[in-house]
Amino acid sequence: MTFHKLTVALQSRSYPIYIGSGLIKTGSAVELMPILRGPNGVVVTNETIAPLYLEQVQKWLHDAGYKNRAIILPDGEEFKNHETLLNLYQEMFKAGLQRNAFVCALGGGVIGDLSGYAAATYMRGVDLIQIPTTILAQVDSAIGGKNGVNMEGGKNLVGTTCQPRVVISDVDFLTTLPEREILSGLGEVLKYGLLAGDDFISFLEMNKNEILARDSKSLATMIHFCSRIKADYVVRDEYDRLGVRAALNLGHTVGHALEKLYDYKEFTHGEAVAVGAVAALNLACEIKLLNDAGRQRALQLFADFGLPMRIPEAVDVDNLIEIMHRDKKAEGSLSMVLLHGLGDPHLEKSIDLPLLKDVLQGCKQ
Ligand SMILES: NC(=O)c1ccc[n+]([C@@H]2O[C@H](COP(=O)([O-])OP(=O)(O)OC[C@H]3O[C@@H](n4cnc5c(N)ncnc54)[C@H](O)[C@@H]3O)[C@@H](O)[C@H]2O)c1
Repeated sequence: MTFHKLTVALQSRSYPIYIGSGLIKTGSAVELMPILRGPNGVVVTNETIAPLYLEQVQKWLHDAGYKNRAIILPDGEEFKNHETLLNLYQEMFKAGLQRNAFVCALGGGVIGDLSGYAAATYMRGVDLIQIPTTILAQVDSAIGGKNGVNMEGGKNLVGTTCQPRVVISDVDFLTTLPEREILSGLGEVLKYGLLAGDDFISFLEMNKNEILARDSKSLATMIHFCSRIKADYVVRDEYDRLGVRAALNLGHTVGHALEKLYDYKEFTHGEAVAVGAVAALNLACEIKLLNDAGRQRALQLFADFGLPMRIPEAVDVDNLIEIMHRDKKAEGSLSMVLLHGLGDPHLEKSIDLPLLKDVLQGCKQ
């Protein structure tokens, strides 16, 4: 078994991330599992993932000496709410979980966020294991400890930060991921490319075909690159209070507004981030932060991976900007992450609104 390993270095909350193929199988358990507080726990997953991987993960945990029961939730972002959370607490209680128990999240970002919040709060906190099964979860949501649930008023309005004890990203799980979810994850991956610069962009340019064909070695290297970048931001700003972690929001100001405008039905998160990143590249170029060669190279990458790059013709740009403003109300003026160059992000605090409007209009062509 070969795998990448990195550590999210947060003193007493430090934890390893393992990335590779064939990690969740008999024999690998002892090597990868940390010593948890107690021997009993639950695996939380959903109805889609359970028939594919639950048995394998339960056996893997069992082989490592951890008894576990399964809790299977319905599948979908619409279930990332307090009602599901309450059911989850009740199931955990029925399973007899005590203060020294563990919760193992097996799934994408929805399962990761729900399980993370439950683990952080059940009996004031139990151990959490993240086994992410989407690209988005492997490169982003399983790392860094953020969790939460949605409310009527918006997404992720309630949550906390609670680091897992270990993250195990087995790329074999990605073989069953629907094409559109692959694309969504790649939207975030390319965002990391823009944040990291030449090394990672060159890797993506050279390995595009292998990645799209889901070659496990290329996927593992790609996820390792992204995990390192995310871990680095998390270590520098664990609680997202210093403005450092804000760079990870590249593409998200416009992206979130687009998702919201279409009531989360038209764009997946990664697709919206891709369109948002293209808008940010164009704006950075317009105000001469980024040169045209850099912009063209980045745009080519988004095109090569088949990500959406345009704002739909029907979108009223004033409306889009209004949604961005509402999102950022607490912060006053509209800020956006832009690039000084590839690999050099920078939070622009006061965006020139007429110029932004022109740029967004231009993103329709
Ligand atoms: N906590 C964080 O830091 C953070 C960061 C980014 C996003 N998020 C959250 O993550 C969520 C989105 O996560 P996501 O994109 O992983 O979506 P998701 O969890 O909804 O998964 C997408 C779909 O793929 C299915 N699926 C997952 N793994 C599969 C596999 N291996 N094979 C077949 N099907 C599989 C799921 O059942 C689901 O239908 C959002 O709720 C978002 O708010 C959290």
